[in-house]
Amino acid sequence: MTTSLVDESRAGGGAELPPIPDGAVMLTVNIQRFNPETDDAPHMESYRVPAQPGDRLLNVLHYIKWYIDGSLVFRRSCAHGVCGSDAMRINGRNRLACKILVKDLLGSNNKAEVTVEPIKGLPLLKDLIVNMEPFFDAYRAVKPFLIAHGNEPSKERIQSQTDRARFDDTTKCILCAACTTSCPVYWAEDAYVGPAAIVNAHRFIFDSRDDAADDRLEILSDSEGVWRCRTTFNCTDVCPRGIQVTKAIQEVKRALMFRRV
Ligand code: SF4
Ligand code: FES
Repeated sequence: MTTSLVDESRAGGGAELPPIPDGAVMLTVNIQRFNPETDDAPHMESYRVPAQPGDRLLNVLHYIKWYIDGSLVFRRSCAHGVCGSDAMRINGRNRLACKILVKDLLGSNNKAEVTVEPIKGLPLLKDLIVNMEPFFDAYRAVKPFLIAHGNEPSKERIQSQTDRARFDDTTKCILCAACTTSCPVYWAEDAYVGPAAIVNAHRFIFDSRDDAADDRLEILSDSEGVWRCRTTFNCTDVCPRGIQVTKAIQEVKRALMFRRV
């Protein structure tokens, strides 16, 4: 999975503005800005952007980057809800900028204002970019890969449709961190592994081809593991893939209690 920063060498910040298309509305975009080289603390800056109702918020951020202020930085890669790199707080809620349409931000009279901030709970690096390493450390800690002992099969490892269905939901995770960084427990205690790591542990714990469920359950029974979850459902509410995150966490808790998957 590649994640790229928007290339600053293409920055507009003074480039000739493209013509305003018919049907465009003026969107006020308030963005949290922070430059560690010059700022003591983050602050908000506002931009007025012409946007069509069908534009995605990511298009709007590109417009600002390319035509108004080339110093703005944010992550994005696929622009189609697949890579998970553009999670940010949009009007106070974790979303993917490439999945939010301008028309969904419009109020009465087609007037619109949106606030964009970085996701919470991870160290802020610059503007909308946070350091994702603590998030990926927790992900790696649960061994998110198939571990199978015994004889290597000569062909694929066979699995019934029923067994595959057991963990289908958690295969959809794109590691956007929207769930983990919307969790109040994670905000308070960043040692908590967080919902995304548990989702990715679930994906293998309940895989009939895998032999390391006990190892992962042991890791998640730690004081910073699954028992930290307070079932606030924030994670499920924000997941852009519609994964039943809280349900997956409950299933892992149950597996721990009964040591049976
Ligand atoms: S479970 Fe959903 S919100 Fe959490 S990291 Fe995966 S895709 Fe993102
Ligand atoms: S840019 Fe890839 S998910 Fe939004």
